[in-house]
This record gives sequence, structure tokens and C-alpha cells, in this order.
Amino acid sequence: MRLAVLGAGDVGRSVAELAAEYGHVVTAFADSTGAVVDPDGVDVAAALDHKDEAGTVGDADPADALDADYDVLVEATPTTLGDAEPGFGHARAALAAGRHVVLANKGPVAERYDDLRALERESAGELLFEATVAGAIPALATIDGVGAERVTAARGVLNGTANFILTRMAAEGLGYEHVLSEAQDLGVAEADPTFDVEGTDAALKCAILANVIHGGGYSLADVDVQGITDIPPSALDLAAEDGRTVRLIGEVTDDGARVGPRLVPENDALAVSGTMNIVQLETEHAGRLNISGRGAGGRETATAVLADVDRLA
Ligand code: HSE
Repeated sequence: MRLAVLGAGDVGRSVAELAAEYGHVVTAFADSTGAVVDPDGVDVAAALDHKDEAGTVGDADPADALDADYDVLVEATPTTLGDAEPGFGHARAALAAGRHVVLANKGPVAERYDDLRALERESAGELLFEATVAGAIPALATIDGVGAERVTAARGVLNGTANFILTRMAAEGLGYEHVLSEAQDLGVAEADPTFDVEGTDAALKCAILANVIHGGGYSLADVDVQGITDIPPSALDLAAEDGRTVRLIGEVTDDGARVGPRLVPENDALAVSGTMNIVQLETEHAGRLNISGRGAGGRETATAVLADVDRLA
């Protein structure tokens, strides 16, 4: 497949680097200020060197990437809320041109799912977005495998940064602010970790899961959200006395979608440690499925993007 990769952060960069190994060619690669386009295949290493030196992957207009020859648009620009632009507009342009779209950007799928599906129905292209929920974990492929109508609930630890903070607070008895700055020093948390610690990132993933399981109708505004910023170390100590711990759990049921700190037994499947994620599905006839693994990271998330590209191929 010929790929146009929009976004050259950790995920876009890793998709471009791994594409050849998966048998694909990157014909356009863009970040917010520049692009490089070559119908015979972009020199990805040179583009990334250019980015390191000049701050952008190339000297062409970023809009040129959308006009390039490609089969699949990989949308890996930063997640935005509300109208989900510019990611939504990128997906719309590709679908209008009859191309496939694979999203790593959560915004369009969480905030404008019904609009995206309407555009897909009018297009010869297909829309896939495995990378938007829990990085490397094949959550959406598993729901598809079970059959969305046979999944009665989904829950899980959907944010690695918040989970790292809760794990460290419980293990060391440290305060939230202390562990947050440790997470930032280690590069686990973003410089602006607001989306992670306030539960927004997990809530976006819940909106996406709810859209997939219930066939649309959800956006971030439909998710009840509480983050971890107000949890004192004493709450974790109290939980531990009782053989329990606290995890930021996202949940989708017939009653809706919610994210918040929950008490879970210390040996429960949901009590994953550090930056790990887990997705737990309740199925109509087959009980519970648990899949845990790495929910973030460039190469980890790129594997989900490239699995979607392989599905389209
Ligand atoms: N920042 C997220 C996390 C990964 O910490 O899990 C991207 O959704």
C-alpha cells in the first residue's frame, strides 16, 4: 500500500520508519509546517534527519501530502477536542477522494464518530482506528472478533500515565505532585499531562469503545469523567490495608460510559502496574476476556496502525 502519513510525532514517525518492513511505501509524509512527497517513495530517514535539523520533515506545503498519490491516509496528528480539526478535515478529504483512512488521532473518532461514518458510507474508502484505544492492545479487533453486539460491557485501565502515578503512589507512599514530576522527568508523562491525569484521554477511549459497541452516538460530553488529581496517599494506604488498590478505570455498559478512580483487589486483572493498560470485555455467552499490554509509545501504537493497513490490504 502507498501511505500518506500526517503527523511526525512519536506515532507518525514510527509508522513511517516501520512501513517498509510491513511491505508498504510512504509516498507523502507531513507535519504541521512542512511535507515531503515522492510517488516513488519518500526517503524516511532523510525526512526525519531534516526534522531534527530544521524542525520539519520537508520543504513542501503540508497540504501537498493530501494531494499526493496514496492508498491509505494515516492520520497521526495530535488529538484535538470539539470539532476535532484538523484531523477530521484530513479524514474527510481522503474519504472524499475514495481513499482509506487509518486514524491514530483519537479526536475525530471520539468527537465526530457519526459524521465520520456518514462520510465513509459515501466513499469507496474504509475507516479503521485500532490505534486510538490502548496502543498496541488489539481491543477493537477483539470486539470485532467477538461481534460488537455480543459485547455487553468493556472496562479497563486505558491511560498509562495515570496508572504509573497511582502505582508509584501506592508503592512508595508518595504524594501526587511528587510522582507526577517524577513521571515527567522519566518522559512517561507529557509536559502537559492534563488529558492524562484529569481522565480526558481515558474518556476519549471510552467514547470510542462506546461508539464501536453501541454503533455510534457518543462523544466526550457523554462520558462521566473524574481524574486522579485529588487522590491523597492516605486513600491508597487505606485501600492497601484492605488488600485493595486504586486504578483509574474506564467503563462502557448499557447505561453509558464513565471514567474514575475505583477500588480494585490488588490481585485483580485490572490492577496492572506502571504504564501498562488492560482492556476487559464482558461477552454475552463467553464470559470475560482480558487483554493487557502497552497502551502507549511510538512503535507500540504504530503496530496497531500498520495492522489496520494490513487489514485494508
Ligand atoms: N498519554 C496516553 C497514556 C497515551 O499515558 O496512556 C496516548 O493515549
